[in-house]
Amino acid sequence: GLGIAPLLKTTGAVTYDPGFMNTANAQSAITYIDGDEGILRYRGYPIEQLAEKSSFLEVSYLLIYGELPTQQQLSDFDTVTRRHTLLHEELRDFFGGFPRDAHPMPVLSSAVSALSTYYPDSLDPFNKDHVERSTYRMLAKVPTIAAYAYKKSIGQPMLYPDNNLTLVENLLRGCFGVPAEQYELDPDIVKALDTLLILHADHEQNCSTSTVRLVGSSQANLFASVSAGINALYGPAHGGANEAVLGMLRQIQSGDVSPETFMEKVKNKEAGVRLMGFGHRVYKNYDPRARVVKGLADDLLAKLGGDDELFDIAQRLEQKALEDDYFIERKLYPNVDFYTGLIYKAMGFPEKMFTVLFALGRLPGWIAQWREMIEDPSTKIGRPRQIYIGEPERNYPGV
Ligand code: ACO
Repeated sequence: GLGIAPLLKTTGAVTYDPGFMNTANAQSAITYIDGDEGILRYRGYPIEQLAEKSSFLEVSYLLIYGELPTQQQLSDFDTVTRRHTLLHEELRDFFGGFPRDAHPMPVLSSAVSALSTYYPDSLDPFNKDHVERSTYRMLAKVPTIAAYAYKKSIGQPMLYPDNNLTLVENLLRGCFGVPAEQYELDPDIVKALDTLLILHADHEQNCSTSTVRLVGSSQANLFASVSAGINALYGPAHGGANEAVLGMLRQIQSGDVSPETFMEKVKNKEAGVRLMGFGHRVYKNYDPRARVVKGLADDLLAKLGGDDELFDIAQRLEQKALEDDYFIERKLYPNVDFYTGLIYKAMGFPEKMFTVLFALGRLPGWIAQWREMIEDPSTKIGRPRQIYIGEPERNYPGV
């Protein structure tokens, strides 16, 4: 039927699998998901244990190097990442080229891509020293870039990172601190943000990670590959969902639409309306990350006095969905992003920063997956086939 015969002539059978529903692109030892049971493990460790006991830095090490670090290894990793938080002074100027209200996601991906122009000693995927340098440069500098992108979007001066602080502390200070003023860190916010980053740190072959691997399979350097991943994450069906959830909740809060009417619209598939923060390609059960996030939201919103009304609307929508045949039949449950936005908002982040925070969390996963791909001798350049459905040969007018 669909032009399969010509392909068969040259290559044998071709699998047509839109969205790669059933196609594995990699053998990986990093993250395990059982979507039916709602299980997620990094390097064999259950996500719930890591969220409770570990730190984002330690989890980054675990994902990238395969084992939990010793105290000495963790301390060395901490030192090397703290030492590289500064951006090249000329890269600071780069932020001036964007419009004042630029969304920080494209600013982030552009700046990460630009990193490869500054570090020629970090670009060779087959040189171990280059790979190490690009790894810690990336982990150290991306939070600084994120904070700069945010400051740019609100017209405030950027703060140089303070290397006495951890990565998460620097991120908070970089976003909310003001030059010449002491920034008071709230340990509960630091801990909650650290936990959220752990929950986002890897999720096997999701859209952005597959993008990182696909770009990297052409032997593009780590900065270029991760920059592409950030762009993939920007979409509302992926990382952009955390921002979209808040928009949805606020629309209901404003009285534009009642929760009941909204749910009817979703179920009738009106103009593509979806319950944002619900559903997942792999989880056909409660997303284990969403469970942890909901607990965090409960604790933190009580403490920080977050928007109880929005939290209430979110919980009502969840309750309605969990009791509704439409969602039950399709196995649609809250995913990690259903409640994260409410927490970020209570921490003081504006909505356009939500996906940036997701990107910061996913960074060690992208790096680990890119490195695994580069080290795997069976890696080939990613190059899917197609089923041609266009015109057969025809002549140019006049021929
Ligand atoms: N609201 C309403 N219906 C939904 C939703 C939703 N959030 N998600 C899926 N469905 C329905 C679809 O309409 C489809 O119904 P049908 O069988 O009657 O046609 C069925 O469930 C299957 O959905 P697909 O789109 O085929 O599932 P897919 O695996 O391709 O999509 C996705 C997964 C993109 C996450 C989807 O569930 C979605 O759009 N969710 C909302 C956006 C979102 O929260 N994204 C974040 C994903 S997680 C992450 O990146 C952290």
